Amino acid sequence: MCGIFGVVAKEGNVAEKLLTIGKRLAYRGYDSAGLALYNDGNIDLRKGVGTIESVTENLKLKEMVGKIGLGQLRWSTFGRPSKINAQPHFDCDGDMVGAHNGNIVSFHRTKEQLENEGHTIRSLNDGEICVHATEKHYDKTKDMIKGLMEGVKEMEGAFAFICFHKDHPDTLYAIKMGSSLVLGIGEGENYIASDLPSILPLTNKFVPLNDGEIIEVTATSYKIYNAEDGSEIHRKPRITDLSAEEAVKGSYDYFLTKEIHEQVDATEKLAFGLESDVLDEIVNKLSEANVAFLVGCGSSFNACNVGSYYLNNLAGIIAFPVIGGRFFEEYKNYQPDDKTVLLCVSQSGETKDIINTINFAKPKGYHILGMVNVPGSTVERLSEAYAYIGAGIERSVPATKTYTNQVLLFLILAARIGYKRGRITKEEYEQLKAEIHNLSALVKQTIEESIPKAKKLAKELVKTNAMSLLGYGITHGVAMEGALKIREINYISAEAMYSSEFKHGPLSIVENGYPVIYVVAPNDKYYVISHVSEVECRDGRPIVVGEHIDGLDKHVKEGDYFEIPKSSQLISPILAAIPLQLLALYMSIERGIDPDYPRNLSKTLTVD
Ligand code: M6R
Repeated sequence: MCGIFGVVAKEGNVAEKLLTIGKRLAYRGYDSAGLALYNDGNIDLRKGVGTIESVTENLKLKEMVGKIGLGQLRWSTFGRPSKINAQPHFDCDGDMVGAHNGNIVSFHRTKEQLENEGHTIRSLNDGEICVHATEKHYDKTKDMIKGLMEGVKEMEGAFAFICFHKDHPDTLYAIKMGSSLVLGIGEGENYIASDLPSILPLTNKFVPLNDGEIIEVTATSYKIYNAEDGSEIHRKPRITDLSAEEAVKGSYDYFLTKEIHEQVDATEKLAFGLESDVLDEIVNKLSEANVAFLVGCGSSFNACNVGSYYLNNLAGIIAFPVIGGRFFEEYKNYQPDDKTVLLCVSQSGETKDIINTINFAKPKGYHILGMVNVPGSTVERLSEAYAYIGAGIERSVPATKTYTNQVLLFLILAARIGYKRGRITKEEYEQLKAEIHNLSALVKQTIEESIPKAKKLAKELVKTNAMSLLGYGITHGVAMEGALKIREINYISAEAMYSSEFKHGPLSIVENGYPVIYVVAPNDKYYVISHVSEVECRDGRPIVVGEHIDGLDKHVKEGDYFEIPKSSQLISPILAAIPLQLLALYMSIERGIDPDYPRNLSKTLTVD
């Protein structure tokens, strides 16, 4: 999705800093880039199609001069990728420049209306509409806050918009109306950006923003206004402990490789949540629930699928995993009682499908809880209580360490609640705690032992364009996650399902050598041996991921059993995702695909 950013400084030139932020937003996916800087009475606007590196080179962005500037990376929705449609955009007379992130769904109607009123709109891009709508009201009032307040009323959509005007050459303005936006506080300079990780090389001090807020930012001050009535809102900055280094590749070939390895540290750190009082609030709120809907998209939904097993079986909470985009269709006629919880799981905390769900559910009386990775994110701020998954910054589009820590956090919450509610004994709780504290060592062992096997299998599957992944009980979510990883970065069909369902139709696809990957938890031996045999006897190729199970190995050809370290029914599914992540990674490399930036995708989906 698009990224917007701005820098205003007391001294020096902001072009390099804008590029630093812009490059760190590139992971979101984009096709065009541009910067606009104010200097000596003029606005210098340069933009074009291509990577931020190529646009920087071709248009000499580093040579731009000014103490105030803004930029944008565009992922096309309205208007094909082209120089004219690239952002930022000027207003009619070139006095104001601005750029947006998100979608103006009233684009055609608002464009026509503004044109009828005499505005010169040069592109087919909805970002330009934000500039002209603001200009229309600024010109009447000569007040940028009023321009923005009235301008947004001209449009429908979910977006964030940043701009500056020649009349106020030391001030950046921005409005948040449904897309992510954060304010960064520096020394003698301030920053605005679509996400917090992008400004970390410049500052760790930030002010989270809510939808319906306008910011007015100079090099040394900031003000927040309510976009409805213009009243001022006072909010102090916060400090994040996320580190900028986490977002560089280091010696790894891909962010994905690095992030798979980072699961060792990430799980170790999160395990301290067992004893930590930072989880008390969410544990207490969740303990009071009779029903919990676990809402997530993509990998976060898959984590909910494993999480519901933990909450149902350990904590005694009736938990349903629900896809973000489906919740408000499925449960629109359901009236929650005062013990119904909506637990929103989102790495970014900015996924639009989840925010829509919260906006639907909150007025109905659901207790909104959040599980996020990015501090200050929208999901965090809309939640009554929240927990960080503490995975550190994840840059690669495929989720790996954030998925694993989401599952682990579910286990920690379920264990604490189960013990608190008397569903598990002290001995059982202590045993589980010991296993969770030992998990990181097993993650390390799993990574090391799976790499050679994953590389070998990736080579053998290089011509394969379809496969099935099956899970049973607690491993169903893991099979779904493995299939998502394989599809996402290999552009092939990988279908996941409940293993007992395979015989109800899909089995007909099996022919000589067709790969079927079984994800197995130790207690499910009986069912899985029978499901594996169904494929084996039809000359398919069963591949198993799980700990050693006597007898099962006889049904699988040598090299096709990804044995993970011995653990338990509750821990084993966390480990079982790792060989699948590695298989997806090496298959992708074998096929010449960059696994960090799969085509058509974006890390954070801030559109409907
Ligand atoms: O930021 P979120 O956790 O809300 O993102 C949800 C999905 O878009 C995300 O998990 C996506 O499915 C991953 N790229 C899959 O690897």
